[in-house]
Amino acid sequence: MGTEAMLTNGSTAAGSTFKLVGFKNFTRVNPMSDKFSVKRFHHVEFWCSDATNTARRFSWGLGMPIVLKSDLSTGNATHASYLLRSGQLNFLFTAPYSPSISTNTSTSTASIPTFSHTDCRNFTASHGLAVRSIAIEVEDAEIAFSVSVSHGAKPSTSPITLGNNDAVLSEVKLYGDVVLRYISYKNPNYDALSSFLPGFEPVEKTSTFLDLDYGIRRLDHAVGNVPELAPAVDYVKSFTGFHEFAEFTAEDVGTSESGLNSVVLACNSEMVLLPMNEPVYGTKRKSQIQTYLEHNEGAGVQHLALASEDIFRSLREMRKRSGVGGFEFMPSPPPTYYRNLKKRAGDVLSDEQIKECEELGILVDRDDQGTLLQIFTKPVGDRPTIFIEIIQRVGCMMKDDDGKVQQKAGCGGFGKGNFSELFKSIEEYEKTLESRSSSTT
Ligand SMILES: [Fe+2]
Repeated sequence: MGTEAMLTNGSTAAGSTFKLVGFKNFTRVNPMSDKFSVKRFHHVEFWCSDATNTARRFSWGLGMPIVLKSDLSTGNATHASYLLRSGQLNFLFTAPYSPSISTNTSTSTASIPTFSHTDCRNFTASHGLAVRSIAIEVEDAEIAFSVSVSHGAKPSTSPITLGNNDAVLSEVKLYGDVVLRYISYKNPNYDALSSFLPGFEPVEKTSTFLDLDYGIRRLDHAVGNVPELAPAVDYVKSFTGFHEFAEFTAEDVGTSESGLNSVVLACNSEMVLLPMNEPVYGTKRKSQIQTYLEHNEGAGVQHLALASEDIFRSLREMRKRSGVGGFEFMPSPPPTYYRNLKKRAGDVLSDEQIKECEELGILVDRDDQGTLLQIFTKPVGDRPTIFIEIIQRVGCMMKDDDGKVQQKAGCGGFGKGNFSELFKSIEEYEKTLESRSSSTT
């Protein structure tokens, strides 16, 4: 299948400034083109129909204690929200209370003022368990909102001041029913790090409190699936100013089985990475992106990549809980994958580490700068839609402006090479099985 054929699904849309050139022709440059000042990923909010149960499942599965709450016990009669935290990673789970109870109060008691009963119910009915909001901390959420809207962003919620002039929250539409939420802090005395947002209170550390920690530290990238890449990329680029950080087409990954084209957008610091995928048609198997779009009833967040400080430890802990309320993983690659891995990454990983990757089913990929260790869970809810990726990036250490040693964003890539490597190793493995069955017959 040629590139032209794959690009017909949106990437050559009329009037588009965006053109998919493929991995080999892509040159990475950082034009520092952000239209407003972006700091980092702040949190990810899931909308669900019961926040208590969903939050506990993720807490146990990922080793993220539930640290803050905003619910009936804190005076919030509108929605129940629980915040899970591990390092800099914040996951917020929100569900509606009874609309009649909520409207009985004269003033809104919601801590997330953009919460809407109708929207939340419609959202969960349409998408199942899914991400509603990708929140980024910006210098000024009022400016981020007005600049975004003046550059074509569809507004979702105008800036709202929270608490005692402590923080500002605003939202614009990202893709599907997902919003990009801007958060900024106004009050220098507000303890943003531990308090999160006004209206949230610490969960009491009683004797049953589990101080879980499997080593997950931050959100590396949040990926969206869209029906057409060009308009989605154009749209987000136009109002954020984010630049293209990486891309690959189905042809690049060396097997037509992947069924996707992908582009990664990044902010100036490249610490906020927003990849987007579109389906490619005409492959032997149906594109997994197309399957997602059907089950999710449109565009939405496909996966969240969580960076671990020790992927071996994270995986040991997570796998222990797979069958008892935690998350299950995609099937591990065949032994041939790990035999080939010694040739591919023997200079970076020791024999012991390669053995550990094999035991835990971890995949390894490289780019020209570093190495990526990655593994994917099975879909985390009922539908074959959202899943989680656990990663650890190795290499690319550099000094920042303050002389602090930091890892370069996106070091080791996003796992492009694993498509073809997995395909190759499965083929090799199947051959060994064939020779085995022919020798026994
Ligand atoms: Fe990823």
